Amino acid sequence: MTHGPDIVATSDGSQTLRHQVTGETYHSVNGAVAESRHVFIRNGFEVSEAQHVRILEAGFGSGLNALMTLRAAEEAGRSVDYTAIELYPVNIQTAAQMAYTADDMFIPLHQAAWNEKQSITPNFSLTKIHGDLADTRFDTIFDIVYYDAFAPDSQPELWTEEIFRRIYLAMSAGGMLLTYSAKGDVKRALRAAGFEVHRLEGAPGKRHMLRAIKKD
Ligand SMILES: C[S@@+](CC[C@H](N)C(=O)[O-])C[C@H]1O[C@@H](n2cnc3c(N)ncnc32)[C@H](O)[C@@H]1O
Repeated sequence: MTHGPDIVATSDGSQTLRHQVTGETYHSVNGAVAESRHVFIRNGFEVSEAQHVRILEAGFGSGLNALMTLRAAEEAGRSVDYTAIELYPVNIQTAAQMAYTADDMFIPLHQAAWNEKQSITPNFSLTKIHGDLADTRFDTIFDIVYYDAFAPDSQPELWTEEIFRRIYLAMSAGGMLLTYSAKGDVKRALRAAGFEVHRLEGAPGKRHMLRAIKKD
């Protein structure tokens, strides 16, 4: 069930993974931590001021976004229910070779059982769903969505109005979806699904990113 992508260094000194077949990286080569912090933490998690937030992540991957969120929540004294969908879980041997193991919460995120809610800390619970984003049905509500699938050019089937509509219906009013992609087709699909779409300054090396809001 698990697979072992290559570990690669990015421009800010932090690491990401590279898919062995497609060559796609899990974060920007211009800085994995910089991208995660900019797109998901600063423009998502820190914008929502709720004490308790329910987050959905599309693509758990290296676990970096989850780790960054856990630490941001801890610093802010907030609590998080974090749900992440992943079709190709990274194997523990690969995760164990990443520099993020310096953080003692990194391996527990990878070791957490699939398909059940696990308490990683008293204020951070994690539910990793082993499944395909294209046909996952949600029975809970999310306040923030980290849309971090591989790029629309490589996986167009994951950037459709149909998937965004399903996510929209599973979000709270005022909820926001963040994504590093600002592609025209992505904006159109998000708008067609019901979101109000805002273009923001992108992470290092990218001009723009998107924040999509559920208004009603
Ligand atoms: C850009 S990477 C995500 C990086 C991740 N958020 C992190 O912090 O490392 C995209 C992820 O989506 C996963 N993925 C690809 N196809 C998928 C699918 N159909 N359903 C769910 N996840 C998928 C990949 O295996 C990969 O882990």
